[in-house]
Amino acid sequence: MSEGLASPVGLVTQSPLAFALILVGLYWGVKILRTPDASRPPRASYWIPWLGSALEMGKDPDGFFSNMTKLHGPVFTVKALGQEMVYVTSPSLISTVYRDSQNFDFTSIRVEMGYKVFQLREHISSAPYMVDTYMGQLHNLLLPSNIHPIVEAYTASAHDSLLSMISSMDGASGALKTFIIPSAYRAACHAGFGRDFPAEKSYPFFKAFDDDFHLIGAGLPKFLLSKPLKAWDELVDVIENYVKEQDEKREDLNQFLAAGLDGYRRGEWTSRDTATVLACQLWALQANAIFTAYWLLAILLQQPEGLDPIVAELDAARRQWQAAHPSKPLGPAFFETVATSSKSLPLLSSAIQETLRVTTSTFSPRRVVNPVQLGGYQLLPGDRVICVTRLTHLDDDIHPHAREFDMRRYLQTPRATKDGKPVANHSMPFGGGTSMCEGRHFALAELRVFLAILLTYATIDIDEGCMTRPEFALERMGLGVMHPKGDMDVVLRKRRL
Ligand code: HEM
Ligand SMILES: *[C@@H]1O[C@H](CO)[C@@H](O)[C@H](O)[C@H]1NC(C)=O
Ligand SMILES: *[C@@H]1O[C@H](CO)[C@@H](O)[C@H](O)[C@H]1NC(C)=O
Repeated sequence: MSEGLASPVGLVTQSPLAFALILVGLYWGVKILRTPDASRPPRASYWIPWLGSALEMGKDPDGFFSNMTKLHGPVFTVKALGQEMVYVTSPSLISTVYRDSQNFDFTSIRVEMGYKVFQLREHISSAPYMVDTYMGQLHNLLLPSNIHPIVEAYTASAHDSLLSMISSMDGASGALKTFIIPSAYRAACHAGFGRDFPAEKSYPFFKAFDDDFHLIGAGLPKFLLSKPLKAWDELVDVIENYVKEQDEKREDLNQFLAAGLDGYRRGEWTSRDTATVLACQLWALQANAIFTAYWLLAILLQQPEGLDPIVAELDAARRQWQAAHPSKPLGPAFFETVATSSKSLPLLSSAIQETLRVTTSTFSPRRVVNPVQLGGYQLLPGDRVICVTRLTHLDDDIHPHAREFDMRRYLQTPRATKDGKPVANHSMPFGGGTSMCEGRHFALAELRVFLAILLTYATIDIDEGCMTRPEFALERMGLGVMHPKGDMDVVLRKRRL
């Protein structure tokens, strides 16, 4: 007996593999005997308990979701890392979920992310002050009619840093990221927090947090997240010092900063709470936009036409502006006027939309709060639903030749149909419904400004000696614009205008 495998304790210590196999066997025995409930969404099959489909999904998310949709239809359940979610992949059902915020709740998820991901104190994240007052102020500041001051601040800063970068780098070859990310990040910091914000100092902390954001979002245990959480703490430190300094100022405050400081001054938040709220704001402001600028250039440079058509459009707009304002020097005023009107630079705007179509992987999360039918299945309170918008972006029926990048695709609004029915929501890089990106109008304006300034004052070409190209970091699915994995070297030259 003491030597034998018959004792379960002996089995665990002497042959953990055999023990594990028996457990998996038992698990499957129970699973197979249980008949699935046909009223509930079908489940993606998997072999390994807890882990579920995580590996397959992580390796090739586009292939995984498209296979599952072919197999099960547009509503199905997937288990991954111990969590079960109902995924919704068709534009019509996504639209149903977006419109029905009574049954598909987002507010509770936003509150939960506040304390689980962004380390806000729980009662601060859920307080009416946060949910109604602060979020309401933010919403107002980001309405198209109100973004002018931040676009102006962004333009001044981007103009300044791009011009000095271009003069110091004239003729240099370097990684594309190094020409784009620092200036784009800095300008957005200045727009969102004021000219004195220590952008350079904050960047390494932002980056360390953002690089591991998908791990925090996946809910891994805290001891595996010490690096990004420490970086987040340091980012909050930088912002807290800045907040205390700025609080002495009574006028001429940046509006977003003022909205954050309001909570502090009213005694709703400590300086730490205020800085944490502003750090969330910083993350939302930066995490997607800087990489959209990067991808637009990285992708266009690899197209046969390169950047030429975009530059031609820009040069024509500049000449027209200069003819109309003969006494004004070329400067921020030009970039603000052309770049804030969505009608100017139509090709650049289309190329930005196309970049977002191709590079975003956006999941909109919801929690079911009442029993509700979706796509013929019964959903129950507590079910978690994820709208997978990327599959719509890659659908050949909706976007002809969806795998190809076509900078002219959005010159006309795509008239998309699927199964004979018009598809209103053919492009959802910003998510939709109650969780739709509040910053989208500013994001589109800042991208037009950034690219217009860069391509007016500089040329960028792929360094012929460079063989590497950036790829999508697919493991970051669901978080918006995918990060580039790897990079490419480019040569930057100052244009003689
Ligand atoms: C190209 C740039 C951007 C992209 C692709 C993007 C994308 C997204 C996505 C996918 C979401 C979640 C949507 C959902 O769950 O349905 C989101 C939320 C949000 N974004 Fe953006 N974003 C961008 C730029 C910005 C900027 C510049 C700001 C700030 C000025 C911003 C502020 C926000 C805020 C505040 C939310 C949260 C909305 C909420 O919780 O209700 N975003 N964004
Ligand atoms: C999707 O299905 C195809 C064809 O059956 C298969 O070759 C591919 O590996 C599958 N991809 C994923 C990620 O499941
Ligand atoms: C989806 O389409 C509807 C109807 O046209 C529109 O009201 C809604 O804003 C759209 N949502 C997104 C995310 O584009």
